[in-house]
Amino acid sequence: MKRVLIATEKPFASSAVQQIIEILANAGYEVRRLEKYTSKSDLLEAVKDVHGLIVRSDVVDRQVIDAALELQVVVRAGSGFDNLDLAACTERGIVAMNTPGQNSNAVAELAIGMMIFMARGNFKGGSGSELKGKTVGVYGCGNIGRRVARIAQGLGMKVVALDPCITKVSMEPYEIKVVQSVDELFGMSDYLSLHIPTNEKTKKSVNFELMNKMPKGATLINTARKEVVDEDGLKKVLEERPDFKYISDIAPSCHEELAGKYEIRYYSTPKKQGAETSEANVNAGVAASEQIVAFFKEGDQTYRVNK
Ligand code: 3PG
Repeated sequence: MKRVLIATEKPFASSAVQQIIEILANAGYEVRRLEKYTSKSDLLEAVKDVHGLIVRSDVVDRQVIDAALELQVVVRAGSGFDNLDLAACTERGIVAMNTPGQNSNAVAELAIGMMIFMARGNFKGGSGSELKGKTVGVYGCGNIGRRVARIAQGLGMKVVALDPCITKVSMEPYEIKVVQSVDELFGMSDYLSLHIPTNEKTKKSVNFELMNKMPKGATLINTARKEVVDEDGLKKVLEERPDFKYISDIAPSCHEELAGKYEIRYYSTPKKQGAETSEANVNAGVAASEQIVAFFKEGDQTYRVNK
């Protein structure tokens, strides 16, 4: 009998857990749960004899892979898979997957909510501004970026986008103007929403020079990963430009300093909550469990992310 572990330091909503268990149990698998764990040793112990693993942002590094002696498949229930050591998976012949698109709407809604929050002075009273008529730059135009664009259009915003994988033609049905360079994107965006993955190319790529290109009164929104923003550059632009605002779903390492200095122009959620909706949890959790069943029963590797 296959054993599948759901290891979530930040658990899925209970409705999602119920559905995940049902799908795996109906397939004839034993389901185990490790939730809200506080020490890595708990994860190392729990993965020892499982064949399948479902995680969220939980770190599945080489140590975890080495401890998981019988592991065949790991599914990151979500979009970004920078928490998985893909090379270690490949070396062991373990298939790694994500569940693209399943939590996109939740993240996109948070990004838009963050724009409104900053436009209205953190809901602290006083006169704010409207999103209608402003330009939003969508940096990274995958499932989340496209959803942000669609909602922003509904609010009457102009949308410009840049993604190495998109062309003008492919964005035409979405009425998204594709710009040619990142400088151009930042230069014309009153609001700039980050939706790029973190990797060696993108780490610290959002630097002072780029942020400083943004128009007067601009807001940078980060629901992607903290690593893509260069924190020295962020500190510098906030220091030098009293009009610049930054809001993030992932607290930068310099959070305390920024929160102390910039009460209105800086905000970070206490804990990453972009995908924290019951709908997103159900979508991603159900997709993850169905992908595990399809993999074990039919060898399906559609959403494989390692080579
Ligand atoms: C993702 O990459 O899917 C999002 O960042 C959500 O991550 P989470 O499952 O840890 O909330």
